[in-house]
Amino acid sequence: MKDAAPTTAPETFYLKDYKPFGFEVEAVELTFKLAPNSTRVLSKIRFSPKKNAADPRFFLHGEALKLISAKIDGAPVTPDLVEGGLSCETPDTPFTWEAEVEIDPAANTALEGLYMSSGMYCTQCEAEGFRKITYYPDRPDVMSTFSVRIEGNETVLLSNGNPTGAGEGWAEWHDPWPKPAYLFALVAGDLVNHPDRFTTRSGKDVELNIWVRPGDEGKCAFGMEALKKSMKWDEDVYGREYDLDIFNIVAVDDFNMGAMENKGLNIFNSSCVLASPETSTDANFERIEAIIAHEYFHNWTGNRITCRDWFQLCLKEGLTVFRDAQFTADMRSEPVKRIEDVIALRARQFPEDNGPLAHPPRPEQFQEINNFYTATVYEKGAEVIGMLKRVVGDDNYAAALDLYFQRHDGQACTIEDWLKVFEDATGRDLSQFKLWYSQAGTPRVQVSEDYADGAYTLTFEQSTPPTPGQPDKAPRVIPLAVGLLSPNGDEVRATDVLELTEAKQSFTFDGLAAKPVPSILREFSAPVILKRETSNAERAFLLAHDTDPFNRWEAGNALATETRVTMVVEGAAPDAAYLDALETLVRDDTLDPAFRALVLSPPSQSEIAQTLHDRGVTPDPQKIYDAAETFAQTLAQQLETSLPRLYAATTVDGPYQPDAHGAGLRALNGRILSLLTRLDGGEQAARQYQAADNMTQQYAALAALMKAENGETQSQAFFDQWQGDRLVMDKWFALQVACAAPETAAAVASKLTDHALFDMKNPNRFRAVMGALAGNHAGFHHASGAGYQLLAENLIALDSLNPQTTARMCAAFQTWKRYDSARQALIRVELERILATEDLSRDTHEMVSRILQG
Ligand code: BES
Ligand code: ZN
Repeated sequence: MKDAAPTTAPETFYLKDYKPFGFEVEAVELTFKLAPNSTRVLSKIRFSPKKNAADPRFFLHGEALKLISAKIDGAPVTPDLVEGGLSCETPDTPFTWEAEVEIDPAANTALEGLYMSSGMYCTQCEAEGFRKITYYPDRPDVMSTFSVRIEGNETVLLSNGNPTGAGEGWAEWHDPWPKPAYLFALVAGDLVNHPDRFTTRSGKDVELNIWVRPGDEGKCAFGMEALKKSMKWDEDVYGREYDLDIFNIVAVDDFNMGAMENKGLNIFNSSCVLASPETSTDANFERIEAIIAHEYFHNWTGNRITCRDWFQLCLKEGLTVFRDAQFTADMRSEPVKRIEDVIALRARQFPEDNGPLAHPPRPEQFQEINNFYTATVYEKGAEVIGMLKRVVGDDNYAAALDLYFQRHDGQACTIEDWLKVFEDATGRDLSQFKLWYSQAGTPRVQVSEDYADGAYTLTFEQSTPPTPGQPDKAPRVIPLAVGLLSPNGDEVRATDVLELTEAKQSFTFDGLAAKPVPSILREFSAPVILKRETSNAERAFLLAHDTDPFNRWEAGNALATETRVTMVVEGAAPDAAYLDALETLVRDDTLDPAFRALVLSPPSQSEIAQTLHDRGVTPDPQKIYDAAETFAQTLAQQLETSLPRLYAATTVDGPYQPDAHGAGLRALNGRILSLLTRLDGGEQAARQYQAADNMTQQYAALAALMKAENGETQSQAFFDQWQGDRLVMDKWFALQVACAAPETAAAVASKLTDHALFDMKNPNRFRAVMGALAGNHAGFHHASGAGYQLLAENLIALDSLNPQTTARMCAAFQTWKRYDSARQALIRVELERILATEDLSRDTHEMVSRILQG
């Protein structure tokens, strides 16, 4: 085996090294002469040297470009071509730079820069992809207006801003809003559109389009409605209007991420915009609505106000995730959205924050910025804003945001700018709060209580375990929403926000006739791990009586976790009281079906593994799997007599509508069907599969059957019906791996990689198989090591084609230190094998090194 150390250490970039670019960019003109293997890009850029620049060097980023010619003020120049770009002698007065380069979009499998997907040209420039299109100061603090001319034979030629002219084989666009290059976009293809219009509150008429490949035009209506709702919501809630004459969305099949907020021309992974009842599940509809909103909201939080440098990424992403969550809460159910977000936070961010990849929401160093589009930057970044809002109050939050938009419109900003706005709007010192942006790790809050003479005291102690590079942590500001219930279930104290600022702090509540039951961390008011000695009886009490829906669900979740832990550790039977509580809840028709579905959804096996690890027990994935199976089987038996009635009562009649109420009922119905299938072997599921006229029910039935190892016929039928639909085929690929038993998961996944429709170059398809393998906890961690080996082999194969997607998927190994030494040894072999790969990308190299070191 080769030495694992790279020949040259990749460069590390530091926040502290920030220096502004030495030139203003006054205007950018680009001409694209499109050809699949030899696109010519002509740039004409007006630069003006800044006086007293900290860094006066003229350096333009450039990667994988063939320079044809370069001129300054019309005279040919010979720039110095170096690794990652070029430098050149320049006049000390304003000048015009012109360059012509050639690029090869058809060979671009990394899907960054200008590439081709299903015959169309498209771009992805965030974070540093524009440098693969032409030489440019590719950094977010360099903002300029862009004028674009596209020459090509495609029927549709799109770029940012407003259209300024078009003819046979060409189109021109002008974007009047200065923007960083990462927001540049171009699309060219034989596309069709789903058009609409929106009138802004000041009366501006905006043309809206969703552009898709012919055949997909019937899957645009839902996305269009979501867009119009988002535009209205941002006006109503944040006072933000759209600022161009046209807003275009394009669906592309090959895309590394979900979607991208390019100014006036959002580009979407087709999985995140195309929807129809026959091909999309309720979860797909909800995600599409949220992501359309997210990218639209970036127009103000990201585009009009952007980031000074990529260390500030959470300035736009955390805020925009926070905004899209508010939107979803308003469109659907606030508590359900909160519970879903906390489940996702614990599934994705907590493992990151408690493992080798832990980093603060604003990292201070990186090798490859693409590796920092993380759950911490996004989800914890959003949680930090939620805490800020809680700490200053809703009115102050609104005032601070008004000031933010007023003060910083048109600027590239920092977290300091963001917090200063809150300080100025509220008069509050936020220096301690700022620690949330610089400290990694999930704080633990240990709770103890005391009751005497009508006075009830809660004492909190906070501490954060060490994370890579940060051995010691200072106490943070932690807003804890707390309510008190009397022993008979009445709320005796409504929610109060207690603010922790010290390592240890007590709060006393007087005048209580009896010792209350506390409901702590209501609405999950801070992203912390609460630790408190309590009983299952008290958890069951909160599950039945808490007035805060989040904490009601949380009590059920804690019970589920406890019973799973005792099953694994002590070989105990499922907790009878918890089973009774679940039964009562499921049958309570006064409760929101979506909420009941969430209470019925078990904690993930990976989460149980983390809980065991936190308690000093080495998790055995097979035992965790067995406990989950036993629990579900016992619950099914307990509910046996009521399941058919519940199934019937939660079946939605009439034509499918993707609304929140119907989705909630179908979610509950799906949970019930999966339990029912454990008893009837799949009779009801087969009937449902047969009758289903929408993907939610078809998929739920197929999943239940496959889990019962009784879905061969339906799986084949599903394939026959949907083989022509890429997005539905992704579901088919993923489901087989997700439903596979632990001992067969790797083999099933391996076989699927040989399938004629498996395509390494399509990130959705690759993720369908390999993501599902990593998500099948007991399968991925099977003692044979087959899961580890298969994932590593595929990551190695993908790395030379698509480093970004490869590097992201390395995170499947981040939890390796939780497991026993045999598994750790197996994983180490695979990680070292990846690291020893010749010409390994910088992306994957950084991820694997950090996972190994942490
Ligand atoms: N700006 C990102 C897309 C992006 C991320 C492009 C990284 C290039 C590199 C976009 O706004 C985004 O955050 N998209 C998310 C979905 C969103 C709903 C959180 C995504 O693509 O997953
Ligand atoms: Zn975003």
